[in-house]
Amino acid sequence: MENGTSHSLQDELDTQDLLHGNVLVFHHLMSSLKSLSLRCACGLGIPAALHRLGGSATAAAIVAETGLHPSKLPYLRRLMRALTVSGIFKQQPSPSPAAAGNDDTVYTLTPASRLLVGDTPSSTMSALLSSRPEAGFAMFFRLEEWFRDGGGGGGAGTTTLFEMAHGVASPWDLAREDDDYNRALNEACVVDTSFVMDVVLRGAGGDVFRGLTSLVDVGGGYGAAAAAIARAFPDVKCTVMDLEQVIRGAPVDGGVVQFVAGDMFQPVPPAQAALLKNVLDCWSDDDCVKILRQCKKAIPTRDAGGKVIIINTVVGHGPNDVAVRETQVLYDMYIMSVDGTEREEHEWRKIFLEAGFSDYRIMPILGYQSIIEVFP
Ligand SMILES: C[S@@+](CC[C@H](N)C(=O)[O-])C[C@H]1O[C@@H](n2cnc3c(N)ncnc32)[C@H](O)[C@@H]1O
Repeated sequence: MENGTSHSLQDELDTQDLLHGNVLVFHHLMSSLKSLSLRCACGLGIPAALHRLGGSATAAAIVAETGLHPSKLPYLRRLMRALTVSGIFKQQPSPSPAAAGNDDTVYTLTPASRLLVGDTPSSTMSALLSSRPEAGFAMFFRLEEWFRDGGGGGGAGTTTLFEMAHGVASPWDLAREDDDYNRALNEACVVDTSFVMDVVLRGAGGDVFRGLTSLVDVGGGYGAAAAAIARAFPDVKCTVMDLEQVIRGAPVDGGVVQFVAGDMFQPVPPAQAALLKNVLDCWSDDDCVKILRQCKKAIPTRDAGGKVIIINTVVGHGPNDVAVRETQVLYDMYIMSVDGTEREEHEWRKIFLEAGFSDYRIMPILGYQSIIEVFP
């Protein structure tokens, strides 16, 4: 009897484990619909409509505001419910008890959906939400094919997933050929960077730039980071270096920063500090070492205030939160499409030492990203 009891308990545990496994597999499979639902909501202009409606509205008001056909109301409620459960919107209980079939649930913006109110929320968000889905998720439908055959030679080739989708190895190569893509990419980086630099400069991250006399923003795009630093610290002389096709379209921006066309694999303009924001994760370890060596040549010794400032993910750092951890490693999957890597601390350390630097300090203060100071 005793044996029988423990056996049935064991069975029950296995059943619970199996049910949990079943939930987990379905949760993963259904998670693509999370991104597609978000993409759809942004495409329909729902965050912006909610914003125009004062930050909260019923589904019926959203349908009217976005110009959808009234027949879509019940479907929109389901879209809003899915995005509410996942935290993109919030739901307030209906102020008056709903009459049968009459749902007047009020949806409100959250800090997450507030970020989606503008036209160009951020560079990665834009790429993922893009009207050109091949720039975002669609190429991942070929991930298995890439693992098996990508680049030919039975999977041993060097073709990136991005190249399989676009015919060129990286977004910068595509930007060289396609003016619209180039502009969209750089303008989206400006929005992303303006948001992040605002957080950096308002908080403890600002101390990283205090006391500098000059800074070169390597791969600095249209100069949003450099301009924010120059405005916050007018004594810092800021230079932005990027590829010719980027600098050509960069805004003059009142002359607070100087723009220089160049290649970060070649000598970069000298400055007390070099900034690499969202640059190194796009490159292999070998390429990062080459870029960092050029930066090291451009800056003075540590005693003279020389340093490299990196803004990027350090996998495993930052708030101990499932959303942060998942974002770091899923971003790594995304950046794998251009043969980039989101690095753990020991991987960063390895490339810093190989490039000839002696020390570093990680400040995990930007959500899923960190600021790293690297010293010669
Ligand atoms: C992800 S974007 C980051 C832009 C900017 N740092 C920011 O955070 O907004 C990477 C930048 O690296 C630039 N880049 C790529 N290859 C480069 C090279 N060989 N030399 C200089 N810049 C390069 C790209 O043009 C692009 O502006």
